[in-house]
Amino acid sequence: MGINFQDVSFAYYIPRNKKKTRYQLTDVNLKINAENEFIGIVGHTGSGKSTLVQLMNALNRPTLGSIEVLGIRVIRKSKTLLKPIRQNVGLVFQFPEYQLFEQTSLDDIMFGPKNFGFTKEEAKENALEAARIVGLNEELLEKNPFTLSGGEMRKVAISGILASKPKILIFDEPTVGLDPKTKTELMNLLVDLNKMGKTIIIVTHDMEVVSRYCNRVIVLEEGKIALDLPKEELFSKKELLDKYSLDYPVLMKLLQRIKDQYQVDIDVNKFTLEEAYLEIKKVLGKSHG
Ligand SMILES: Nc1ncnc2c1ncn2[C@@H]1O[C@H](COP(=O)(O)OP(=O)(O)OP(=O)(O)O)[C@@H](O)[C@H]1O
Ligand SMILES: [Mg+2]
Repeated sequence: MGINFQDVSFAYYIPRNKKKTRYQLTDVNLKINAENEFIGIVGHTGSGKSTLVQLMNALNRPTLGSIEVLGIRVIRKSKTLLKPIRQNVGLVFQFPEYQLFEQTSLDDIMFGPKNFGFTKEEAKENALEAARIVGLNEELLEKNPFTLSGGEMRKVAISGILASKPKILIFDEPTVGLDPKTKTELMNLLVDLNKMGKTIIIVTHDMEVVSRYCNRVIVLEEGKIALDLPKEELFSKKELLDKYSLDYPVLMKLLQRIKDQYQVDIDVNKFTLEEAYLEIKKVLGKSHG
């Protein structure tokens, strides 16, 4: 039981003459498991990535079709209680400052769990644990979140989502504007959460992040799912990357260049520095051995 989109189309605005509706998403069919997935959603600006993830936690509802989230069916006019969805599918916004509003960071982080029925004590316990997990400096907890830096605000927003103990976590462009160290820390955090069994979904323009961390890639184009495939498959098909103007990760470019120039048998599907290094070493060993 995860997230299941069935023939979903979505429009932000429905004109009086419904036939003139311009859909921002069309005919989306998608199945996501509630456990162990690590999905990257990519696509040009305006292709519908943020719109899509906002349907996943019922912040938006489908205009046409239906979405089942953890066993709860969501349609355009559903009267079902959406709270369990919001609790179990945590969404960290593209601009985290939009989701902060309390006087102190701690109150902000506690808001979710309190809203979802945890007692005040439990909410505080969860909030402190979440802040520790994301590496949020304790002295920032008493500060007004709007006085924090962008990276710190993002940590507060992420803590706020974690504190409600969701099964599925969605991050809309989580690494934009972070320095390299903070970016690596954040991605390592997502890896740890994924190892705990949680499904992680990230929207990103960063193909390095996709190649290194994701298992499955969804490519959106003009509101439609153009591709939905395992990472290895995407990166082994140059024609697909070219077709959707997706960039090759730099390590793969390097391996490809060595392969072309020296006509050696080298596997270019290596996604970490260590893997790439071992592959090059193997090839060098052969030619020197
Ligand atoms: N609140 C809104 N009201 C009306 N139209 C919107 C709204 N939000 C987004 N759109 C439109 O929906 C389409 C998809 O936008 P969306 O924000 O989902 O794209 P995106 O892929 O996340 O882009 P980006 O990479 O720039 O974040 C765009 O044409 C956008 O103008
Ligand atoms: Mg977006």
